[in-house]
Amino acid sequence: MSRKTPAQWLLSHHSGFNPGENANFEFKRKDRKTKTIAISSGKGGVGKTSVAIKMAKMLVDRGEKVLLIDCDYNLSNTAVKLGIPLDSKFYDLFVNNIEFSEAVYKDGNFHLLSACNGNIDLFERSVGIENLIVDILETHKDEYDSIILDCPAGLNKEVAVLNTYCDYRFVVITPDRSSITDSYSLIKVLEQRHSLKSFHLIFNKISGKKQYERLTETFLKTSAHYLDCRLKVLGGIPYFNEQVDDFDRELLKVAGSNIHKSFNKVMTRFSEEDNGNSFTDTPYFFQESLASVKPEQEVHSI
Ligand SMILES: Nc1ncnc2c1ncn2[C@@H]1O[C@H](COP(=O)(O)OP(=O)(O)O)[C@@H](O)[C@H]1O
Ligand SMILES: [Mg+2]
Repeated sequence: MSRKTPAQWLLSHHSGFNPGENANFEFKRKDRKTKTIAISSGKGGVGKTSVAIKMAKMLVDRGEKVLLIDCDYNLSNTAVKLGIPLDSKFYDLFVNNIEFSEAVYKDGNFHLLSACNGNIDLFERSVGIENLIVDILETHKDEYDSIILDCPAGLNKEVAVLNTYCDYRFVVITPDRSSITDSYSLIKVLEQRHSLKSFHLIFNKISGKKQYERLTETFLKTSAHYLDCRLKVLGGIPYFNEQVDDFDRELLKVAGSNIHKSFNKVMTRFSEEDNGNSFTDTPYFFQESLASVKPEQEVHSI
């Protein structure tokens, strides 16, 4: 009997979208030290790639060895944002022309598996490409402390498989109604069809404390009412109201910027939990997220 690859195994559990079979299934990896984190949103342009890069860099600064994988296979942005030359190594890896180690960009303990930009062959052959990512994760996970997946926009099987594989699911939400609707839809489908029960929320492009409060309240109350999952709000990132591409430079600053301070709080909240504090129910986090916002605080200090 042929042995299944990790990706085949995972898909065999999930491809049928059968809630009966999957009802109590969550792919958990508590017995290993590598953290795997999927960053998704449903909607594009909300800040997934920005969050993924910043988190990866901050974890490296905290002493970890981190692999960031750009899962937006043919509309890759990570290298662009980091000022790294674009190449087609992801495609070469996909067609087995090179090894994983040759495909990865390395800067100390920060490793990036970038992806392609409009590669025609990859476009023609990209069905089921998430299997490649899962196989890479299974083969190389022990080389890293954390692996972050910058997932593509959309709600499809590919996003579902990547989210199902990971220990943690970060959902990036912006204040506009379409982002709120899409994030809710993403969580709903992952909860109801893949039995994924825990999600971390990061609210991005926030323009004020009241807006942050309204957002968290609306989102958490609605989810608590209709969904059976635990949501933890990790915090808010302020809207950086300057020239569009200036944000990418601001993002990489390691001190003195409100963006950095906000991410620091997000990371601290996450690492506290990762170090042993487990989830409690949604209403608790709702209370906590509001309680942590002092009336005199501006959103940049949330
Ligand atoms: N907090 C923010 N303030 C201002 N601009 C932001 C913020 N977060 C992200 N952006 C900008 O929004 C755009 C989309 O961000 P990106 O991280 O590429 O989103 P996604 O990966 O979800 O498509 C980029 O131009 C980015 O620089
Ligand atoms: Mg992106």
